[in-house]
Order: sequence, then C-alpha cells, then structure tokens
Amino acid sequence: MNILLIGSGGREHALAWAISASPLCDRLYIAPGNPGTAQCGENIVLDLANHGAVGDFCRLHGIGLVVVGPEGPLVDGLADSLIAAGIKTFGPSKEAARLEGSKAFTKELCAECGIPTAGFARFTDAAAAKAYVARQGAPLVIKADGLAAGKGVVMAETAAQAEAAIEMMFAGGFGAAGAEIVIEEWMIGEEASFFALCDGSHALALASAQDHKRVGDGDTGPNTGGMGAYSPAPVITRAMQERVMAEIIRPTLAGMARRGTPFKGVLFAGLMITAEGPKLIEYNVRFGDPECEVLMPRLRSDIVPALLACCDGVLGNLDLRWSDAVALTVVMAAKGYPDSPQTGSVIKGLEKAEALEDVLVFHAGTKQGATDLVASGGRVLNIVGLGKTVSEAQAKAYRGVDLIDWPGGFCRRDIGWQAVKREREG
Ligand code: AMP
Ligand code: GLY
Repeated sequence: MNILLIGSGGREHALAWAISASPLCDRLYIAPGNPGTAQCGENIVLDLANHGAVGDFCRLHGIGLVVVGPEGPLVDGLADSLIAAGIKTFGPSKEAARLEGSKAFTKELCAECGIPTAGFARFTDAAAAKAYVARQGAPLVIKADGLAAGKGVVMAETAAQAEAAIEMMFAGGFGAAGAEIVIEEWMIGEEASFFALCDGSHALALASAQDHKRVGDGDTGPNTGGMGAYSPAPVITRAMQERVMAEIIRPTLAGMARRGTPFKGVLFAGLMITAEGPKLIEYNVRFGDPECEVLMPRLRSDIVPALLACCDGVLGNLDLRWSDAVALTVVMAAKGYPDSPQTGSVIKGLEKAEALEDVLVFHAGTKQGATDLVASGGRVLNIVGLGKTVSEAQAKAYRGVDLIDWPGGFCRRDIGWQAVKREREG
C-alpha cells in the first residue's frame, strides 16, 4: 500500500524509517519531510491547511494510509476531513485531539474519570486567579490553557512569581493560548513519558522514555522541545506500566468513548511518578519528538499493521515485540537555540556517524543546500545510540556525535545522566 506521512521533524524521520521498512509499504510520501525522510521515500509539497488538496493527493496516488506526525494538523481536524473523505488516517479527530489542545479539557476528564493528576482550578480572569493563589499559597504551577509550543508553563516557587505569571498570561504573553489558565498543585517525583496506541476502545502499551527539556548540561537554562531522550525509562518498571495502563490510559480511553469522542492514535502521557503512584501531568496526541527517535529503533515488529489496527478498531488482536536494548538520542541543535537559532551553517560527517554499528542518525532541521547539507531549524539532528545499558547507548551516541563536523551546532554532553547514575549505583 502507499502511505503518506505528514510532518518534517526528527519524529517523522524516525517514523519514515520504520514505515519504509515494512513489507506492506509500497511507496512512502512525506509532506513536507526533510533530507532524512528523502532517504526513506519521496518528499512532497502539500498545503496541509487545505484538507481538500491533501485528500486529492491521496486519491491521485492511491494512498491507503495517512500518518499524521505533529499535533497542529490534528487539532486543525485533518484526520476528520480525510476520514470523512474515506481515507484511512492514523491520528485522533479534532475533538479527541483536545486532550493536547486544551489542558482544562484534560483536567476535567481526569476529574470525571478518577484519573490521578495534580489538583487544579481554571480561570478566565486575573483577579480570581490571584485570589486562588492567595488561598492556596506557593509553590504552584501556572499554565496557559491552549497550545503554546510547549512553553506555556510557569513553575512558580513563590506567590509573587505566580501573580506575575498570571498577569503575563492574561496580558497575552502566550497569545490566545493564555485566554484561559489552569493553576495546578506542584507535584514532586520523577518524570517519565509513556506511549500507548489506541483504537477508540482498546489501548496497547508501547514503551516508556525520558527526555531532557533544558538546553544546558546538568538540566540548566531555558526549556526546549527536548535536547535528548532515552527508552525505556528505568522508573517505568513492568508493574508501574501496568498501573499506568490501568489507572491512567484505559480510564482515559473509556471516558473519551463515553463522551462520544473516542481516541484513536497514539496517546503520549507525561507522567510524574510520585510516592503515591503515577500521576498524569499532561497528554499529547502524537509521538514525542525526540522520544519517537528512541522508540522506533527498539520496535522489533512491523509498525504498519499496528497503525492500521488503530484506524480499524482491531488493536485488541495485536501484540508488539520490543528489543531489550536501550536507545538514547542526543539532539544536536543550531547555536542560539532555543531563542534565536542560527540557520544556514554547513554540516559534514553524517555518513561517518551513520556507518557506526548501533548508531542511527535522524534529521530534524536540515536542508539540502547546493553542495552541502545545512542547518535549517533549531533542533537539527538526532544521533541515536543503541546498547545493552544506558551507559553503553550513551557512549555509542556520543561516538556518533563526535564524528559530525558542524561548528555551527552544539549538544548537551550529559543526556541520560540520571539513568547512568542509577546504573552505576546499581
Ligand atoms: P506540560 O507542558 O504540562 O508538560 O509542563 C511542562 C513541564 O512542567 C513538565 O514536563 C513538568 O516538568 C512541569 N510540570 C507541569 N505541571 C506540573 C505539576 N503540576 N507539578 C510539577 N511539575 C509540573
Ligand atoms: N519531547 C516532548 C514533545 O514532543 O512534546
């Protein structure tokens, strides 16, 4: 079958790599893709906001499955439009994508379904929000309700910081995303991400991962989309995975189905593993980036039947095999990221890194220049190492990083440090 993949990041290169390895995949198209996805299929230009045009492309090219990578087109209803046009699409409907598009929506669903999460309150005006802060006392977490490119969260250690965040958000600091805010209890624990495929009524556990959001070594500096990740997350033991499925994922799926907006696609749960057990921080309705880059290399089974089963509502019959190996990715970013990444610098040495055993390179923000590959975004490359332990995977990934000749880029040198420390302490 012919498959169309939507997106252009490292996540999409990892997905394209996995999909193109499937014997079920005849032709793979990626819109818009990047130089990495061009090695797995054909990059094409499509106006993703024009759902009719995407549908026309699918009919013309006999597309049997569309896989939507990023959240933007999902929140915009691309899956609804394509499914209505009779085109099988992996990814949730616009209504179900509210699990990511609105934090307040998710918090209400948690309350309704008894899903463990931080205590919360919602506000549409600053005075009421400030009064709540005065009643609750710090620390608190202040969030813009809508999509704010992963930046709409302020961890307020003091009441003054909480009030400043409230004023900033209602003054439009995060644009329309901050028209409503959510104030949450500050949870203490270890963070991990967990992924599950969903077909509307069944959920199938994928795997866990942990990422590093801060730009600098030692988890310092501003937040980013993620400077690296590894899978599995040591804190998600088999028993913990069972709890996450039973206490968080399955109740969410049941709640969404009851509301008449069943969730189909991949559910990405941001979790806090607290002393009382797993609690939901937030949902995303897509694979994580860079988490996807460490999940796909560990997946032993063909991904295409799993994606199809989600669309067809037959996930209950499916089982996936995973490698026991640890995968760890180091993100290489353009200097100046996240505030003002400098694009256009020349990148060399990729083929040397790619030639290493147990090393994979996934492109994110690259562009093919006239003669050389150049940086075209903030996060530019993912160098993935595979090993029996986190330490081994980390060593492999950095061996790959060190073969890349890119003076215009930088990366963290300590991806996986908590897990490495845990291994050393045994
Ligand atoms: P979010 O965009 O909701 O994932 O939040 C971004 C980050 O803020 C999370 O990855 C956590 O590190 C932190 N965070 C969000 N909500 C809470 C909370 N209620 N308690 C503690 N940390 C939180
Ligand atoms: N790495 C976090 C995300 O994809 O949202």
